[in-house]
Amino acid sequence: MTDVTGASVDVLHTLFRSDQGGHEQVVLCQDRASGLKAVIAIHSTALGPALGGTRFHPYATEAAAVADALNLARGMSYKNALAGLEHGGGKAVIIGDPETLKSEELLLAYGRFVESLGGRYVTACDVGTYVADMDVVARETRWATGRSPENGGAGDSSVLTAYGVFQGMRASAHHLWGSPSLSGRLVGVAGVGKVGHHLVNHLIQDGAEVVVTDVREESVRRIQAKYPQVTAVADTAALIRIEGLDIYAPCALGGALGDDTVPVLTAKVVCGAANNQLAHPGVEKDLSDRSILYAPDYVVNAGGVIQVADELHGFDFDRCKAKAARIYDTTLEIFARANEEGVPPAVAADRIAEQRMAEARRP
Ligand SMILES: NC(=O)c1ccc[n+]([C@@H]2O[C@H](COP(=O)([O-])OP(=O)(O)OC[C@H]3O[C@@H](n4cnc5c(N)ncnc54)[C@H](O)[C@@H]3O)[C@@H](O)[C@H]2O)c1
Repeated sequence: MTDVTGASVDVLHTLFRSDQGGHEQVVLCQDRASGLKAVIAIHSTALGPALGGTRFHPYATEAAAVADALNLARGMSYKNALAGLEHGGGKAVIIGDPETLKSEELLLAYGRFVESLGGRYVTACDVGTYVADMDVVARETRWATGRSPENGGAGDSSVLTAYGVFQGMRASAHHLWGSPSLSGRLVGVAGVGKVGHHLVNHLIQDGAEVVVTDVREESVRRIQAKYPQVTAVADTAALIRIEGLDIYAPCALGGALGDDTVPVLTAKVVCGAANNQLAHPGVEKDLSDRSILYAPDYVVNAGGVIQVADELHGFDFDRCKAKAARIYDTTLEIFARANEEGVPPAVAADRIAEQRMAEARRP
């Protein structure tokens, strides 16, 4: 037996001191037969069982995996609180390269660990895990969502994610221009993959002018085949500089808003699906200082988590769509609170989420 090392003491330090409120529980899971090493982090169950996906990623160190699980779990508490779900926040990470390590045996072992938590943590897909994987995990636990329709799940969540982003955009337009209609507005969508292309459908139907960019030419071609009026530019750098751009919708990767982009952004509104759009703390203030209205990413892209939460009760698309439609009111509430308190919308959103969790904790 070896002694506890400095590195593991650091992990404990991260757990108990990482942020306001700290985390409730972190579980380290190991199954030697399949090579599974996973971290399940539960940030809060104040509003209900912790809900959040499983990320499968080749972390450089185990401490980095724990830190990521802690951060992601905390983010889910805020997202679920603002989505009006009766769920707290949690997230799991599986350490390793999904291309080489993922196996049925490993996913089943992981499912048994999720089941052992008795419903305190409900899992779903995230980067590196897919609907087919959740079908396997669900063979060992009742607490896996994001399954295929053949297995009682709701399948792809991008339809409702795009619908929620569209509602966030309508709320932004209402706040800034006095009408939720996007008719005649010029909207730039960066990334027209699963969510982006559904978003373009909504925008065209509402009468917006749309310009897109994507690193995959095929994705752009698919959009233009359907809507020849959609224009395209070479890259995101060109998109964010378009004169007269009303709304910028980052729908590709995280970190879209940073020191290189905010100063040159021509849009008056940023509202998109990508997770973690703010490259670092302080960018929300830089946006406010330039009078750019930022609809917080984790608020407007909650359609996906609304869908997986609904799956636990037997998925009903119309019920889910009605819940995703409330993103419109939540976004307006955040902008109003931001104005009242003189803070950027991202700060107002965090405050509303914290308030909901604190109220739920009260006896
Ligand atoms: N799918 C969901 O339900 C969901 C829910 C919440 C948040 N999100 C977030 O929304 C974003 C999009 O998700 P998705 O499911 O549509 O993914 P996706 O992989 O289907 O689409 C992303 C698209 O962005 C393009 N892209 C990548 N790098 C780019 C770049 N530098 N410039 C321009 N385009 C680029 C890709 O080619 C792809 O077409 C991600 O950040 C994801 O985490 C998705």
